[in-house]
Order: sequence, then C-alpha cells, then structure tokens
Amino acid sequence: ILTKLKHECATPLPLLRHVADAMAADMRAGLAVDGGSDLKMILSYVDSLPTGNEKGLFYALDLGGTNFRVLRVQLGGKEERVIDTEFEQVSIPQELMFGTSEDLFDFIASGLDKFAQKEGEKFYLPPGRKREIGFTFSFPVRQTSIDSGILIKWTKGFAVSGTAGRDVVACLNEAMERQRLDMRVSALVNDTVGTLAGARYWDDDVMVAVILGTGTNACYVERTDTIAKLQGHDSSSGRTIINTEWGAFSNGLPLTVFDSDMDDASINPGEQIFEKTISGMYLGEIVRRVLLKIAEAGAFGDSIPEKLSTPFVLRTPDISAMQQDNSDDLKAVGSILYDITGVESNLSARKIVVEVCDTVVKRGGRLAGAGIVGILQKMEEDSQGLIFGKRTVVAMDGGLYEHYPQYRRYLQDAVTELLGLEISKNVIIEHSKDGSGIGAALLAAANSKYEHDF
Ligand code: BG6
Ligand code: GLC
Repeated sequence: ILTKLKHECATPLPLLRHVADAMAADMRAGLAVDGGSDLKMILSYVDSLPTGNEKGLFYALDLGGTNFRVLRVQLGGKEERVIDTEFEQVSIPQELMFGTSEDLFDFIASGLDKFAQKEGEKFYLPPGRKREIGFTFSFPVRQTSIDSGILIKWTKGFAVSGTAGRDVVACLNEAMERQRLDMRVSALVNDTVGTLAGARYWDDDVMVAVILGTGTNACYVERTDTIAKLQGHDSSSGRTIINTEWGAFSNGLPLTVFDSDMDDASINPGEQIFEKTISGMYLGEIVRRVLLKIAEAGAFGDSIPEKLSTPFVLRTPDISAMQQDNSDDLKAVGSILYDITGVESNLSARKIVVEVCDTVVKRGGRLAGAGIVGILQKMEEDSQGLIFGKRTVVAMDGGLYEHYPQYRRYLQDAVTELLGLEISKNVIIEHSKDGSGIGAALLAAANSKYEHDF
C-alpha cells in the first residue's frame, strides 16, 4: 500500500512543470470570461495598495480561518505607521458552521460589539464619525464593489444555511442592527487580499499573497489591460488585485483512491480539489484513510480500532507532531497514534506511519510550490522581466505553513527546482503572520467615507 501510495503521489519535476503551466493557463482563461476555467479569478475592487499615509482608528473582522478575530488599529500615517493595535480571537464554535446565517452573523456582531466596548482612551476617533470596519471574509465572494459581495458558496466544511447568494455585508449589517451596533463596513476582502495589503504596507516588492491554512488560496497584483472580462471597471492605477480562488484548481494533479474517497464523502464533492490535496483541513484525513487501509491489511495487529474509522479524527497538527519526532524508537509517534487513533504500534509500524505522513505532505508542499510558480510565471509573461528580474515577495500566512516545517521545505524545494537557483533567489516567500487583519483595516482606511485629515 505504501509503495503504491508513493508512486501515485510522486511529484517529479515534469509533473510540477505541468501543474505550474496549467495554473498559468487556467488563470488566463478565468480572466478572459467568467466561468472560463476552474479558477474564478475574482475582481477584488482593490485597485490601490496601502501607501503608508493611512490615518485614523479602524476595526477589522477576520472570519474563515481556524479562528474568528477582531482587531482595532490606530494608524498614524507615514511617520508613525501603526501607533497601536489590539486584537482578540476565538475559535469558531463547530455548531455555527452548520447553523443558520443569522446565528453566524449574530456571533460575529456580538464579538465585535463586546470588543468595541473595551476601546480604551489611547484610541481616537473624531466626534461624529462612525467606526469603520475592514471585513476579511475568507470564502468565494463575487464582489460587487469594495464594500459588498455575494457569497458564491461555502468551502472548508462550512455549511451555513441561508448565506449563499446573499451580500455578506448586508448579513453583517442586519446582525449589527439586531445588536444596535452602529459601525460601517468600508472594505470587504478575502484573507489573501488582506494579507497582500498588510504585507505591502511594509514592503513594496510584495506582489502575491498565499494562504496555506485550513484552506488555501492566492491573490496577486494584475494589470487591468490583461483582464478581458473587466469591461468598464476603471482603475486609475492600471492595476488591480485578483483573488484566484485557486483551491478549485484541478488540472493534472496526482490523485489517489484515498483522495477520491475523501472527496466523495465531503459536503462539496468534485469541488476544491487543489484545496483538498494541499491544505490543512485535509492532509490529516488523507493520512487517516491510508492508515485505515493499512490496518485493514493487518499491519497494525488483528483488530481495527474504532477511532481510526472516524473521519477527521487525525488532524494535520497531529501528523506534523509525529513528523517532528526524531527519536530512535519514535516514541512520540507511538503515543500520538495511540491517543488519537487507538492504533498500537511497534517500531516498524511507526516508521510506516511516518512515511505515509511524509508522502502526503511532500505531495501537498510541492504542489503548493508549483501553484506559486504558475502565478509568478503568468505575471512574468505579461511584464517581461519585472517579476523574475528583480526581488519579488510572496506574502504567506496560515497555520499549515507556519507549523509544518517539512511542508515549508517541500514547497521551497519545488519553487527552487522549477525556477532554478538564480531566479529563485529573487523570489522571497515571507511569512506574514496575521497580516490580513491589519491589511483589511488599511483597505478600510483607503476606502473610508471620511477625510482622514486630522
Ligand atoms: C490568519 C489570517 O493568520 O490565517 C486569516 O489572519 C487567515 O485571515 C488564516 O484566514 C488562515 O490560516 P488558518 O490556519 O487559520 O486557516
Ligand atoms: C478557501 C476559501 C478562500 C480562502 C481560502 C483560505 O479556499 O474559498 O476564499 O481564501 O480558503 O482561507
């Protein structure tokens, strides 16, 4: 089973090249016409990135990763930049992911309300102004303006009823009215877009942002003259940020029966295939399915522990923890395996388990690297040298990238193999931790309805 898995998950250079090329081609097709490819290539309505001149008090909401976050920031312009910032975060209660739209948005609004009430005197808002919010909402949204957008569908296991097809800012406004909370959403952004804006505030060379966490996605700075479907949307800068929604990419991926079985059993079969192959929500589950098959073949003793048959019981942080065990007897692997799946193991079984984790994670990391190269390649083709010929930064965020060293290494290896040593020196993948909150606040500032001249 392991040999077959390794064979089917292999990502040799020609396969990675094919994936990178297919990503670039799908991007073009998605920019030409809506529905032109798996990639939605969503217009973000963010046509200018933070300049550093942003001033004032802003709030940010961040929904869609592992945690729900609220944040406030006092921006001081070029000299002072971020004067003060405070945030709170809670994990999203499981039941809200399957509940009603009202319940979910009431939870967000009440979290915001409680947080806003704790605003101290060090934060300053001129009298008569509403507090403005940058809302990071990390699901596929058809933006209708910078501060409105329709949820196309849920991803990452969310199945909230009554939101798809609705303007999520209107949903939030209704919840804020129910709470009698008088604040205004000035920018609605995807987490990739928030991350790009947040990272660009400090570094002008940031051109791409990628999330590798529960889910995965990427956005980048695009020239408006290359976007055929833009029709009539003017951008004074000649640039705009495109949210690729690359989680839906599916072209040429090396998939196994474990992937297709997991997909069949998911709440969105046939969708988000790239995400299901490379992101944190799914890697642990793929490994569990392989281990179950190995257990059924008798490799872990006579009986199959019930826990091992429970979907999603083995999480990506668990497989990462197992891969960090460098001891000779793989003791930590043995205890994690037993605690979580009920599997009792000897040393040779533990070695197999680590190899399974490594195989699945290597595939994920290398495919993510190929995806990044695909985006850079597309940008390079349209800009002749302006990407590979100079320092270009990819801002990265998400728990998977942050907490899985092997995944990070495999990703970087693939980028280096694909671009070659010289060019890859110019491509800097930089962890931009929690940057999307500040990024959303900066975009709220840029789209404020008030003059920030105080
Ligand atoms: C956070 C960002 O740091 O990472 C979020 O602030 C983003 O906007 C999240 O959605 C993704 O990571 P994870 O691991 O929480 O899914
Ligand atoms: C999912 C969402 C996408 C988000 C990504 C990372 O793929 O559809 O909008 O950016 O997860 O959080």
